[in-house]
Amino acid sequence: MDPVTRLGVVGCGLMGSGIAEVAALSGIDVRVAEATHDAVETGRRRLIDSLDRGVRRDKLSAQQRDQAVAKLSFTHDLSDMADRQFVVEAVAENRDIKTDVLRALDKAVEDPAAILATNTSSIPIVDLAVATERPAQLIGMHFFNPVPVQQLVELIPALTTSQETVQRTRGFARQLGKQVIQAPDRSGFVVNALLVPYLLSAVRMVESGAARPDDIDHGMELGCAHPMGPLRLLDLIGLDTAQAVAESMYEEFKEPLYAPPALLRRMVAAGHLGRKSGRGFHTYDA
Ligand code: 3HC
Repeated sequence: MDPVTRLGVVGCGLMGSGIAEVAALSGIDVRVAEATHDAVETGRRRLIDSLDRGVRRDKLSAQQRDQAVAKLSFTHDLSDMADRQFVVEAVAENRDIKTDVLRALDKAVEDPAAILATNTSSIPIVDLAVATERPAQLIGMHFFNPVPVQQLVELIPALTTSQETVQRTRGFARQLGKQVIQAPDRSGFVVNALLVPYLLSAVRMVESGAARPDDIDHGMELGCAHPMGPLRLLDLIGLDTAQAVAESMYEEFKEPLYAPPALLRRMVAAGHLGRKSGRGFHTYDA
């Protein structure tokens, strides 16, 4: 199957910028779209900073960084995605926003065989697929944060996704150097279905006063060799994203373990979103 040479990425937040970075470093021409001029600039900055950090840490040579930068272009107009062979949508974890973006992409991308992949963490893929005119070419492609580090991609075919789309997406993930697991189209897929109840249990432990965040995190880091404890991980994921994922899972299964605890909701309402806002269960330098 032919490799992807013209990729689109919509959304340049934590996930979208990571996906665009990995693709550009793999030699793929990447066009990144954000909603507004300001959002484009913030996304561009995030991406370039990450590549610069790679050079500072001796992960990348200056030449590799410059070659990756040369592969990137930015836009705030989805019609600039017209010539793309494959587009990954990585906008906010909100059903209406994702549906609108995918519908617009469906119209903008000229090749009817081009694939639209959604990086949703929890919204049923089939709901997004049938909102477009190309349900056979729409698939879930779920990356993990930080995208340049985490090796996994979950591939989630909807009932409507064709086998060819699955194979081409598998090939694209390999092009990015990622390992793939196939996951069912049920909220949370494989990884979040296991991870989210654990993270929410840690929030409930804090909420009930049973244990302090540092003790919970150190417990799991030192006792179970997790690279970061559950509250530090929530701060990395973003408390707003974690709440949105938990809500989708709760909506689907009505399972109390998936219900976002009140403390999580209050922290999101207060703007304590984790690393990205400088404060979550822990505090961070700007
Ligand atoms: N880009 C490139 N490399 C990065 C990076 C980035 N954004 N962030 C970290 N790294 C690299 C560093 O260069 C370093 O590499 P080295 O060991 O070869 O020198 C390595 O990763 C470790 O980084 P640091 O020393 O800065 O920091 P830590 O040792 O604390 O590691 C971490 C940071 C990689 C985030 C690690 O703690 C980790 O893997 N945590 C768990 C993350 C996780 O579970 N992610 C999944 C979240 S769930 C999800 O995304 C699904 C969603 O739907 C909710």
